[in-house]
Amino acid sequence: MTDTSPKKVHVINGPNLNMLGKREPKVYGRLSLDEINQDIEALAKALGINVCFFQSNHEGELLDHIHQIFDEGCAGVIINPGAFTHTSVALRDALLLLSCPIIEVHLSNIHKRESFRHTSMIADIAMGQLIGFGHFGYHMALRAIHHVISETGNG
Ligand code: DQA
Repeated sequence: MTDTSPKKVHVINGPNLNMLGKREPKVYGRLSLDEINQDIEALAKALGINVCFFQSNHEGELLDHIHQIFDEGCAGVIINPGAFTHTSVALRDALLLLSCPIIEVHLSNIHKRESFRHTSMIADIAMGQLIGFGHFGYHMALRAIHHVISETGNG
């Protein structure tokens, strides 16, 4: 039987982002990841998008999750890879499997910070980056994917 259910938008967060709210609040804000995800969920509902969330502190788990997304198909990926942004060729390679739009999000402006944060392994394979807008970056990313889905009908 053909699967006709709408494809999902996956919101993926990497290491230490489960500590949001407690972790350097001046840099990353006071909201917990759960609170941020609830906000994204509400926007997704309003936009008629099926969204799901994944966070891991382990590179291999993030790769396995992306492989699963590849197998299932998806409408888009919003990813904040945390510190793996700056180091992980493996994460880049996994994301290269996907043909859906990928949007890179960072709560902080990585370009205003230490030089080792200025490099992103995924910047050039992402459709775009939303950097430095705090949790609002995830919202903008979801709206951007919604725009692409509406234009291409690839939901
Ligand atoms: C971050 C920026 C990264 O440099 C850092 O390692 C993080 C969070 C951000 O959202 O601003 O864990 O991705």
